[in-house]
Amino acid sequence: MTIPMLDLGREYEYMRNDIDQAIRKCLEHQKWILGPEVGELEKKISNYLGVKHCVGVSSGTDALVLGLRALALKIKGKEFFDRTDEIITTPFTFTATGDAILRSGAIPVFVDIDPQTFNIDTGKIAEYLENQGDKVVGILPVHLYGLACDMDKIMGLAEKNKIFVLEDVAQASGGAWKNRKLGSIGNVGAFSFFPSKNLGGFGDGGMVATDDDEIADIVRILLKHGGKDKYNVDYLGYNARLDTIQAAVLVAKFKYLDQFNEKRRMIAEFYNENLKEIGHIITPEITPDAYHVYHQYTIRVKNGKRDGLQNYLKEKGIATMIYYPVCLHRMKLFEGRSKSFKTLINADNITSEVLSLPIEPLMKNEELQYIVSEIKNYFSTKD
Ligand SMILES: Cc1ncc(COP(=O)(O)O)c(C=O)c1O
Repeated sequence: MTIPMLDLGREYEYMRNDIDQAIRKCLEHQKWILGPEVGELEKKISNYLGVKHCVGVSSGTDALVLGLRALALKIKGKEFFDRTDEIITTPFTFTATGDAILRSGAIPVFVDIDPQTFNIDTGKIAEYLENQGDKVVGILPVHLYGLACDMDKIMGLAEKNKIFVLEDVAQASGGAWKNRKLGSIGNVGAFSFFPSKNLGGFGDGGMVATDDDEIADIVRILLKHGGKDKYNVDYLGYNARLDTIQAAVLVAKFKYLDQFNEKRRMIAEFYNENLKEIGHIITPEITPDAYHVYHQYTIRVKNGKRDGLQNYLKEKGIATMIYYPVCLHRMKLFEGRSKSFKTLINADNITSEVLSLPIEPLMKNEELQYIVSEIKNYFSTKD
């Protein structure tokens, strides 16, 4: 049996009628730039999240950059943050989280993660703010793998220190913290519609969510070259619109989001149940306050056995991935351009333990059975 990490073709077959119809409509109206589907998607997602504004943009990365630049304009009246302005984030994330901070002008301050949840350690955020937080303008938590950060603690710290929170929701569409949808809790939420995401298009796409009228207005200006219209340009902007055809595909796929997230949770439960007895494996934390949407199902493999397991599974036709083999503070890009708070030992150590297993809403039972039986086989020969 061959099992890929993700089989988007299977998803397409499942939703084929909805998607084909949506694309055909675009072919007929030909409104390729900011056509009606963009507004339709924005409305659907703002209702779903319970926020005033959603603004479609061209990627999750752009959602982060535009969100941050809008915050700089609102808070500081400046197009970019200063390099002395600090934004606290996690080093254990995709590079876009950190490089968006750099592109907004600010400096990322990496604080360590909690190895149980893989998310930023809120105790460490508090410690940094308490002791050397005078330059901090905001916190950028990432809901990694689809699991919510502790948003009560993060919002409490932000309020106390009068700083903003921008949630990186790239991996957590549909996820929640205490029944509040992720991306609706901080000042701004940044979503990605990269094809592999829980809500993914047929190319790049993203969205900024906010209750703040001013932020939403500025994002709409920045994504169209920085002007209210083509010939009244105030800011250095971008061409960062969400394509009509992507919005159309996303509207069609959106109706499956909750159902698919439920399926991801069922698959995760199956893995948890079947892998919990294996001594070398730590299954993902179940946080009662979080509605985990398992963008990735990531286990920790202890005692130096991760690479051996991955190679064995590959021989058996089972794809797995390592998210992430390198932390941001280890990348050349961030050398001399970031700060690290104390040691980032948990983040560093976890890079050699994490292994993401296939998780896809339409996976078959026999595929899941095969994966867990091969993992068990591998460890039955090891102690
Ligand atoms: C945590 C995180 N932030 C940001 C991004 C960037 O999103 P995009 O690829 O849509 O630009 C991603 C996507 O890969 C991500 O996983």
